[in-house]
Amino acid sequence: MSHHIVEFRDVYYSYPDGTAALNGLTLKITHGESVGIVGANGSGKSTFLMHTNGYLLPQSGGITVGDFPLNRETRQEIRKKVGLIFQNPDDQLFMPTVYDDVAFGPLNLGLSPEVAAGRVEEALRTVGGLALRDKPPHHLSGGEKSAVAIAAVIAMRPDILVMDEPASSLDPRARRYLIGLLNDFEHTKIIASHDLDLILDVCERCIVIKNGRVTADGPAAVILSDRDLLEENHLELPLSMQGRRPGKPGGTMNDIEKLHHLIDHWIEHNVEHAQSYQEWSKKADSAGRPELASILREIADRTEGMNELFRRAAEACR
Ligand SMILES: Nc1ncnc2c1ncn2[C@@H]1O[C@H](COP(=O)(O)OP(=O)(O)OP(=O)(O)O)[C@@H](O)[C@H]1O
Ligand SMILES: [Mg+2]
Repeated sequence: MSHHIVEFRDVYYSYPDGTAALNGLTLKITHGESVGIVGANGSGKSTFLMHTNGYLLPQSGGITVGDFPLNRETRQEIRKKVGLIFQNPDDQLFMPTVYDDVAFGPLNLGLSPEVAAGRVEEALRTVGGLALRDKPPHHLSGGEKSAVAIAAVIAMRPDILVMDEPASSLDPRARRYLIGLLNDFEHTKIIASHDLDLILDVCERCIVIKNGRVTADGPAAVILSDRDLLEENHLELPLSMQGRRPGKPGGTMNDIEKLHHLIDHWIEHNVEHAQSYQEWSKKADSAGRPELASILREIADRTEGMNELFRRAAEACR
């Protein structure tokens, strides 16, 4: 899987009882993006996520994941790359012990029991769940089940991590820990949640789904500061944004406030871009291309120089 692209083209899906859950969903997510999926209850978020690894297959339209069109034949292969954590961990945990549940994926990938054991230990340690390894999953608390469900997926080391309401049963400390864990995961992330503060902390892009199609798509800082858009979709401004709210309660955010969020977003990207130019400059150097390396270094330096300007612009917005 070279690009880890997830592309949906005009995807329709109705459940057997006739409920139309996806109604022409079209979107494209590229490698390394972290994308929040938000929307009212029943808007189609979980149905969308269950299509990303072929758990559900579209009734019309097309899906591409990485280098493959997703279909009945390719979905086994695609599942090795796309780790889907279900909204309800009970849908995911079915083995007699936590250990067996977390080992299930790695063993299915064809890893030896010894290598799988290493993966289990590492994944359980990552979610702070080592002490749970011998317990039956149905004896765990809701938050512990969520942690184990996350471990079961990260043990497979997916290229694309897809999570449906990952924080809903976590206590504040576990939630904070999860946010750190997600921020450390360097591949593509797609996260559906009503916890808009989590989305804001973890995702740079946010897609709003309404009646099974995309109704808005843009930088998370912009989408999640648009009070009218959020209200139309039964959502509220993230708490962290409510603190910055200007004017009367109930008023819409003015353009300068919006610009302020945008600038914060641009700064983050500028820092990331500068790092990536530096990395590519080193790669060009080791590939024996000193001239290219030096140009890229200069681009990186000038890009870094922009950080200060962005900071001043953010300051001037206050
Ligand atoms: N198994 C099912 N059978 C029939 N209809 C279903 C089924 N699962 C979901 N639906 C319906 O499909 C639509 C989309 O549901 P979905 O679970 O994707 O929404 P969601 O955006 O994830 O909602 P939530 O925020 O509550 O998690 C809803 O109208 C729901 O009632
Ligand atoms: Mg859902």
